[in-house]
Amino acid sequence: MALNQKTFVFDDVCKHNKPDDCWLLISGKVYDVTQFVDNHPGGWDVWRRATGKDATIDFSDVGHSDIAKGKMKIFYIGEIDQSTIPIKRSYMQYMTESIYNLRNTSQLIIKVLLVGIMAAALRYYYLRKYMKNVQENGY
Ligand code: HEM
Repeated sequence: MALNQKTFVFDDVCKHNKPDDCWLLISGKVYDVTQFVDNHPGGWDVWRRATGKDATIDFSDVGHSDIAKGKMKIFYIGEIDQSTIPIKRSYMQYMTESIYNLRNTSQLIIKVLLVGIMAAALRYYYLRKYMKNVQENGY
């Protein structure tokens, strides 16, 4: 790492997630690509999903050319402090959301069952009343 190289904290990098203030984190390096948003193929739509996180996989999935990789140097502004990257964030988020969804689903099932039981009880009550009337009064 060069002397006086700027080091950024993950959460701060994530804050630059708008078309007029756009930073990307790729392979531990931070790029301020604000000036390139309008000229990047795919434009802001593509980059919107790559900001606010580590975009290393997104970048390599596209299979950028050597020209694109060369261009990156222009936008390089520093390194990320690796210890600030929440590696398990996406996994934890996924798990939390799954548990939350599961809890919501179970609650919905319980509510549907309760309504069903109440409807069956009411039907049973009126049916008995009707049968009693038929037996006693003939209607
Ligand atoms: C500093 C970072 C980046 C630079 C300098 C850059 C530059 C470029 C360049 C020059 C191209 C034209 C094709 C090529 O030469 O490979 C391109 C295409 C593309 N880039 Fe990037 N890119 C960067 C980051 C990203 C990231 C993080 C994504 C996230 C998915 C991305 C998605 C794409 C896509 C989808 C295309 C192809 C668009 C198409 O063909 O319609 N790029 N990029």
